[in-house]
Amino acid sequence: MNSKISASMMCADFLNLADDIRELERIKVDYLHIDIMDNHFVPNITLSPDYIRQIRRATRIPMDIHLMIDEPERHLGLFDFMEGDIVSIHYESTPHIQRALKALKDIGVTVSIALNPATPIYYLDFLIEDIDVVLIMTVNPGYAGQSLVPETLEKIRDLRIYLDNRGGEHVAIEVDGNVSFENARRMRKKGADIFVAGSSSL
Ligand code: DX5
Ligand code: ZN
Repeated sequence: MNSKISASMMCADFLNLADDIRELERIKVDYLHIDIMDNHFVPNITLSPDYIRQIRRATRIPMDIHLMIDEPERHLGLFDFMEGDIVSIHYESTPHIQRALKALKDIGVTVSIALNPATPIYYLDFLIEDIDVVLIMTVNPGYAGQSLVPETLEKIRDLRIYLDNRGGEHVAIEVDGNVSFENARRMRKKGADIFVAGSSSL
């Protein structure tokens, strides 16, 4: 898969959002990365369903919606998802991960499962058929501006091999957190496909 860029909107200039969106259109980013936090699954609060609705009025760039909320399957109805969006839910955020992934599939979005840095790859053993993307968190989720968890680089490589050996060749790998230009190159070599560009990529 060709590399794709997903621009982190929590790192955009909120006072000049329209200009930022025009610039992101001009440089042809592939997705807008929208971090949704509930101050429970992660200790922070960020963007919202209303924010997504507003941004939709300004651009047709597909969204890459990263749900860092507990029991996301209970809250999917709040969101204005569209075909072509990637929606990520965290393995760690619900005891009913398969039900939550199925609900996303029924909505018709690109289904992604996010893994925190310490969550093992083998937790995907019974989920490969349910997903299109794995979002590897390369920092612990919650804040922009953190440092890479170095072990996650090998995790990207191990994940690519793991997926290819289990019929998951079509599953893309997304990386989120401290994707600096230097780290992006290292992540690409390990097999990452979609890169979240945040404060590290300025
Ligand atoms: C982290 C967020 C990221 C963040 C990454 O929880 O999901 O999207 O914006 O940006 P930097 O480059 O600051 O790590
Ligand atoms: Zn994110």
